Amino acid sequence: MDETCDPVTIVIFGASGDLTQRKLIPALYNNFKKGRLSECANIVGFARRPYTNETFRAHLLEGVTQFSEATYDPQAWEAFAQHLHYFQGNLDVREDFTRLHQHLESLEKGLANRLYYLATAPEHYSLVVNELGEAGMAHQDGCWRRIVVEKPFGHDLASAQELDRAIHAVFDENQVYRIDHYLGKETAQNILFFRFANTIFEPIWNRRYINNVQVTVAENVDIGHRAGYYDSSGVVRDMFQNHLISLLALVAMEPPSSFTANGLRNEKAKLLESIRPIALTDTVRGQYEGYATTEGVAPGSQTATFASLKLYIDNWRWQGVPFYLRSGKALQRKTSEIIIEFQRPPHLMFHLPPGSDITPNILSLCIEPDEGMHLRFEAKVPDSEQEMRSVDMDFHYRSSFDQMLPEAYQRLLLEALAGDPSLFTRADSIEASWRLLDPILQGWETKDAQPLVIYPRGSWGPRESDQLLARDGRSWRFGCVDYPGTIHAGS
Ligand code: BG6
Repeated sequence: MDETCDPVTIVIFGASGDLTQRKLIPALYNNFKKGRLSECANIVGFARRPYTNETFRAHLLEGVTQFSEATYDPQAWEAFAQHLHYFQGNLDVREDFTRLHQHLESLEKGLANRLYYLATAPEHYSLVVNELGEAGMAHQDGCWRRIVVEKPFGHDLASAQELDRAIHAVFDENQVYRIDHYLGKETAQNILFFRFANTIFEPIWNRRYINNVQVTVAENVDIGHRAGYYDSSGVVRDMFQNHLISLLALVAMEPPSSFTANGLRNEKAKLLESIRPIALTDTVRGQYEGYATTEGVAPGSQTATFASLKLYIDNWRWQGVPFYLRSGKALQRKTSEIIIEFQRPPHLMFHLPPGSDITPNILSLCIEPDEGMHLRFEAKVPDSEQEMRSVDMDFHYRSSFDQMLPEAYQRLLLEALAGDPSLFTRADSIEASWRLLDPILQGWETKDAQPLVIYPRGSWGPRESDQLLARDGRSWRFGCVDYPGTIHAGS
């Protein structure tokens, strides 16, 4: 590969959509503003709408001013906007890919690397890949060609494998970057640094000291205008198959011997393969009140907007430790957090008031919105004989680092451009994740298996979700919301 080939073209398929306006262009703009995007980069949007370069730029500017308000600077935008181009085309028309190819060559005026970004509706992914192949646009002659595939990657195991076959018919695996934007979040990346760049936590990071782990990814928003996509997807495909499983892997995986894409991805795959098949009775599915009457939702829809489940990992480190996962829409607050609950002391020599128990130590990894960590432990209440209270040691990005946290897409786009797939999901992990979740989705289709329960908007999901833990003598814990000084996003 000729690494001297510096110019790069980023081609976004589905360029008139929400993702491009809300996430991709603001991320590219911020990278450009930080001087991290090649001065000779071209960004080409491909879609059906009749934009000109000017109207396309104006549409994207709205996105930047709205979704990246804090970093918007008119001069920087003007400079960045010169790199944006629009190409009107139809995915179903082969000739449009040939025309696109010619258009790219005329823009590039010579050798240029290319990053293709699939931001279309997922049902078009195979088609676009095939057309890129047909038009000779995947061919790497002197310059690299890479493809970024947005989630969802498949609808189930079979369709994920089929999509992989379609992609591999045109691109080699080392050209493929499957996105899970949670892996681009600073706080998610920090989990591995926290575990493996420090010595004090790893020795207790196992079944001997950890009682249970809870992963919560709660959203206060409902499905908004996304019924078309969401109603055939639901929370398991939308959130568990990718984001929750990724967080789980970061918390539970073994340390790789080196911080390389292969090292990391091998450990992640190994972890996912050691998850025991999940019992249907260890799952709960819910739907928020009013979902079924949302425009675009099928009447009587059984789509789950909330799910919680319990799983076990069959390896030495985690044998017997339950992992509880939950996620849902229209919940009370937006919070993504991971709770590590430690074992209680084996023998208690203090005299507690009758009926009371000691609070276990809890480590909370706050993924968002108030990024940081809290470690809860017991302390003696001053001027008492033996009274105890839980207190926290805490770390917050907002006070420890004097800088804004970048959006996940900024990091991911930089990594894809740099050719480092560490933060992208490999095919084997995607398959392992579907293998785990497919039986749940199929089981739920049998109507009387774990019936769908309606939960009130603004709650924390159905009561059955609390019962899932209560059965084990536990309860869901919050370590990040309602913490003193917490910033509540969207509340
Ligand atoms: C997306 C899902 O992948 O993640 C959305 O499709 C969800 O339904 C979003 O709202 C949540 O991402 P974040 O970064 O806001 O937690």
